[in-house]
Amino acid sequence: MVNPFQYGGIVDDESFCNRTQELHDLRRAAENGDRLLVYAERRMGKTSLIKRLLKRLPKSSFIAIYVDLWATGGSESFASAIAKATAEAAETRADKLLETGKELFKHLIPSVTIDQAGNPSIEFGARQGLDTVPQIEDALDAPARLALKRKKQIVVVYDEIQRIAEYSEDTVERVMRSRIQQHQGVSYFFLGSRKHLIRQMFTQESRPLFQSAGHYPLSTIATAHWIPFIRDRFAGADKPLEDSLIEKLCARTEGHPYYTQHLAHDLWEIVLPGHAVLAEDLARAEDTLLQRLGHTYTVLLERTTENQRKLLRGMSSAVHEARPFTSEFLRKNHLAASSAHRAAEGLLSDDVIDRENGGFIISDRFFKIWLARL
Ligand SMILES: Nc1ncnc2c1ncn2[C@@H]1O[C@H](COP(=O)(O)OP(=O)(O)O)[C@@H](O)[C@H]1O
Ligand SMILES: [Mg+2]
Repeated sequence: MVNPFQYGGIVDDESFCNRTQELHDLRRAAENGDRLLVYAERRMGKTSLIKRLLKRLPKSSFIAIYVDLWATGGSESFASAIAKATAEAAETRADKLLETGKELFKHLIPSVTIDQAGNPSIEFGARQGLDTVPQIEDALDAPARLALKRKKQIVVVYDEIQRIAEYSEDTVERVMRSRIQQHQGVSYFFLGSRKHLIRQMFTQESRPLFQSAGHYPLSTIATAHWIPFIRDRFAGADKPLEDSLIEKLCARTEGHPYYTQHLAHDLWEIVLPGHAVLAEDLARAEDTLLQRLGHTYTVLLERTTENQRKLLRGMSSAVHEARPFTSEFLRKNHLAASSAHRAAEGLLSDDVIDRENGGFIISDRFFKIWLARL
């Protein structure tokens, strides 16, 4: 029997837990033509959520364009990524794809290839000697042109939006604002995970995308939703476990989707069918898991400064977010206020910790447990 708990990839259907409210909210935003920034820590389930939403939008009234910006590195790859996603969302038939690509873009040149299974795919290149700005505009405006042509609501998702802040020039960020502000009949979702970068992009007055989108922070999944989800999957394999044990599991992972699935996966794996799951099993699953990650965490810790280690150790015993600049925390962890601030700065920019509810959290929940055990 295949383990029903999945971690790492995009989850849907049987592997997707709850998010009913979020799906409703985002559906409304799609219908309303809103612009929304959906942000959360890595692995919180942004991509899975948005893909599930897109899949469920009726094709009769929506065209969904999903652009993953992860692999883009500058304005040229940005423009061709959007152009590709737009053309492929507009047309799936091989014989029409090239035509659509030519129709939709003035400054980008399409070429279509067909793989061995007969699936067409389109790529775009720039016209020789052309400035990059018209190309970016061309790509960014295509969804709005499509909305007019097809008389459908267009939903555009830019996943990993923080990538554009990492490009060497800020052309894309600037052009983006000026173009999408004018678009009618298009909803935009910006998905991003490096919170400090995203926050700068959308909340600093000096930045082009300042206040260009509403904010939708995505949080963890509540234990009340995990309980039936986890219980049913264990019961389905004749490995009954009590709700109190699921609560324990969720407390360890703080309900974070990735870590909860990961721990549930490993727990499910070590229990034989026909056996009830025991507290010892949970402890054993956690031990094994941390043991396997131990090497990675040791390396991670070696790269930190002494003050950073003090800060992390102190944070690892906090129940949720820690408040490392309070006098109690500083005293307990032998830190001066200034060194705690400096340590936090460094860990923040390395994505080891993150801001949450006015405090700080250790992003990797297993690293947190591992640290607490040291
Ligand atoms: N709604 C959900 N129900 C169950 N597990 C989820 C859910 N959303 C995310 N996950 C878990 O988190 C992992 C990361 O999800 P993903 O959508 O890639 O997150 P993100 O895009 O925020 O990095 C998935 O592989 C899965 O294990
Ligand atoms: Mg993602």
